[in-house]
Amino acid sequence: MDLKGKVCLVTGASSGIGRATALQLAQRGAVVAMAARREQQLREIAEEIGGQSSIHLCDLGDAASVLDLADDVLALHGQIDVLVNNAAELVAGEISAVDLESLDRCFQINLLSPFLLCGRLAPLMAARGEGVVASLTTAIASGRRGLGAYAASKAALDSLTQTLRQEVGGKGVAVFSYDPGWVQTAMAPDGKESPDDAGARLVAHIEAAKSARQPLT
Ligand SMILES: NC(=O)c1ccc[n+]([C@@H]2O[C@H](COP(=O)([O-])OP(=O)(O)OC[C@H]3O[C@@H](n4cnc5c(N)ncnc54)[C@H](OP(=O)(O)O)[C@@H]3O)[C@@H](O)[C@H]2O)c1
Repeated sequence: MDLKGKVCLVTGASSGIGRATALQLAQRGAVVAMAARREQQLREIAEEIGGQSSIHLCDLGDAASVLDLADDVLALHGQIDVLVNNAAELVAGEISAVDLESLDRCFQINLLSPFLLCGRLAPLMAARGEGVVASLTTAIASGRRGLGAYAASKAALDSLTQTLRQEVGGKGVAVFSYDPGWVQTAMAPDGKESPDDAGARLVAHIEAAKSARQPLT
């Protein structure tokens, strides 16, 4: 996809990989709608980008706010060409130690908010015959001791991605999961790779993304 002028919604754009992705998308000429809770961080990134961006304060732990987010971005920009489901919360603790509230929040942010955004936005992309949905996954989605809630939420997100691809992939929408590797961010302070590199790779995948109906070149 040629990103010039395309509207890209990036969740969790206030730090780490989401921030880097938003900046890279803007460098390609995209209009970037950035969602997160921390206003100051979003404002600083918007300033760095210049005119072609908007910020959307949103707690993705709240389903009503997620739907409002989609509607706000659509109202402001008219359409959304690229959805990057990047925001996530890492809940640590062995399964027996994870309390219901943390589990609920983890699944709301990591799975239910992408589910709702996909449900609202993918049909609009399919109706136009073009769009990209990228969701951040992890190598530990198959299971990791002490990270059961996070891993299970990402495994379910991968499943959502597979189903969405079957539903809209033949209608011009490219749908994929992206594992950034081990990246040094607030979520992974010991990570080895830079968020800038991870964001650049993700944006390259978005540019190269093909829907099921596009011929492979
Ligand atoms: N770092 C790694 O090594 C690694 C490896 C594999 C996958 N990933 C995935 O990469 C993605 C980005 O992670 P990161 O490493 O860049 O972490 P990060 O720097 O901690 O960023 C997480 C982002 O999610 C947002 N967020 C969290 N809870 C939110 C909520 N309730 N509502 C709205 N936004 C919320 C945060 O914004 P606010 O706090 O401002 O709301 C922040 O912008 C995640 O999906 C993660 O699972 C990371």
